[in-house]
Amino acid sequence: MSSEALNRCEIIGQLRRELYGDPLSSHKAHIFIIFGASGDLAKKKIYPTLWWLYRDGLLPNETYFVGYARSNLTVPDIKTACLPHMKITDADSDCLAAFFSKNSYICGSYDDATSFNKLQVHLLSLPGGAEANRLFYLALPPTVYQCVTTNISAHCISHKGWNRVIVEKPFGRDLQSSQELSCHLSSLFKEDQIFRIDHYLGKEMVQNLMVLRFGNRIFGPIWNRNSVSCVVLTFKELFGTHGRGGYFDDFGIIRDVMQNHLLQILCLVAMDTPASTNSDDVRDEKVKVLKRMAPVSSADVVLGQYVGDVKGEGQARFGYLDDPTVPAGSCTPTFATAVVYIQNERWDGVPFILRCGKALNERKAEVRLQFTDVPGDIFGGRCQRNELVMRVQPDEAIYLKMMTKRPGVYFSPEETELDFTYKSRYKNVELPDAYERLILDVFCGNQMHFVRSDELREAWRIFTPLLHKIEQEKTAPLSYTYGSRGPIEAYDLMRRVGFHYGGTYKWVQPHYAT
Ligand code: NDP
Ligand code: BG6
Repeated sequence: MSSEALNRCEIIGQLRRELYGDPLSSHKAHIFIIFGASGDLAKKKIYPTLWWLYRDGLLPNETYFVGYARSNLTVPDIKTACLPHMKITDADSDCLAAFFSKNSYICGSYDDATSFNKLQVHLLSLPGGAEANRLFYLALPPTVYQCVTTNISAHCISHKGWNRVIVEKPFGRDLQSSQELSCHLSSLFKEDQIFRIDHYLGKEMVQNLMVLRFGNRIFGPIWNRNSVSCVVLTFKELFGTHGRGGYFDDFGIIRDVMQNHLLQILCLVAMDTPASTNSDDVRDEKVKVLKRMAPVSSADVVLGQYVGDVKGEGQARFGYLDDPTVPAGSCTPTFATAVVYIQNERWDGVPFILRCGKALNERKAEVRLQFTDVPGDIFGGRCQRNELVMRVQPDEAIYLKMMTKRPGVYFSPEETELDFTYKSRYKNVELPDAYERLILDVFCGNQMHFVRSDELREAWRIFTPLLHKIEQEKTAPLSYTYGSRGPIEAYDLMRRVGFHYGGTYKWVQPHYAT
């Protein structure tokens, strides 16, 4: 074996010892069951993620993958559907064949016991199947969650290994439906068996928030209402609903992104230091933040819906209502800006601005802390506010906008930044996909980056009154053009609550050697 290959084996071996503790424990068989194996999420994310983890030697040795859906499929059919998303190189062919040799597929319905008994017989027939640990991934529309979990619990549980269930968002539509789903799941499984995925919690920079905040002395003393003027959490996408209009129209941007991805990030930005990095200690602190937030007021919200830009350069970009899968006259927002407050000692009065939208001018997700003006200014108002920006994607970075003396004979302040761009600092490090980290966490039983039922309840409590109001009143969203920055009223709202946009500075990603 070459020294490079040996080194890689050592690293993987060490990582596996860290992940699974006693290496012998990984000799137990594991079975990963994908419900909805014929679907979009399965082919684009779940199978590719399992392949990457398998290829990189990060799964327990005896791991089998069982697809389940109503469609009449074979493993080669699944392979064909997934290959375009799996980033295969020529060197992977043997490993890829080995991966698919561990795959099988069962065709069955979601609501009948016979099909689940057939699945159970198959699971037991796999090597070590009777004692295996089982992971059930529900890559399914939420409409079938209840019958599928009931059938798993009744017919497919391992009695000699552990069982874990992974549930995809949306976890309900509002407080009541989410509570019903939670009650149903908790009647079948214990909380430590339920893994509710919010894939933003698997992103590098979102996970870095805790280390950045609690592993550095310098941030603690300024991370509060004395120094922070406002916090802006942004999610922007370049494209529209992309043929997912049917799904999206039922939910809208608040349920799709704001109530989960942005609110989860807010918790990590705002929470106090947890007692430890234990999953429940961290989630306890997140819940405390949510409990101190009042339901969002409609006066603090701007909603938008994109319209086509058929005159734009290049390809015509159609509006949301031009999508044939969207009902005519739909009022579903594709853009929202909302201001929320956390009524605790640390944050009282500080606006947290959540903004998200589709079909905007750029793709970007970031956290921005804007600090207060310097008290007792001696530079004649020429200093801009400091901003600490954690850029989640694309191109992970942390940068601090700050004032410096203009170099040379001048004595005037000038804006610059302290920049930590991942691609410059960590040139050869490839960051894993969010799903890779999260699925690995399920194997390891680590729930820190998953949503606990009480977090979910609080999140719905904060957004349900607003969602009900805009749906009952059929609040018309403001139009914005595909590819624009969204409705200008959203920027008026941000200004009104105290965000200062200097407009004098733009972060440019530093050049890095590839
Ligand atoms: P799909 O619409 O592709 O559904 C997955 C599978 O479920 C289908 O292949 C189909 O399998 C079965 N199915 C579809 N509709 C029904 C129905 N009405 N009744 C019973 N079974 C049905 O969904 P996705 O793969 O896109 O999403 C799965 C889950 O993941 C959803 O909860 C979604 O919200 C969530 N999600 C998806 C993302 C994505 O990028 N796709 C991103 C984030 C979350 P068959 O007919 O063969 O049984
Ligand atoms: C999903 C939303 O949860 O997140 C999609 O349903 C959105 O509408 C997606 O496009 C964004 O994820 P990412 O990882 O591409 O930023």
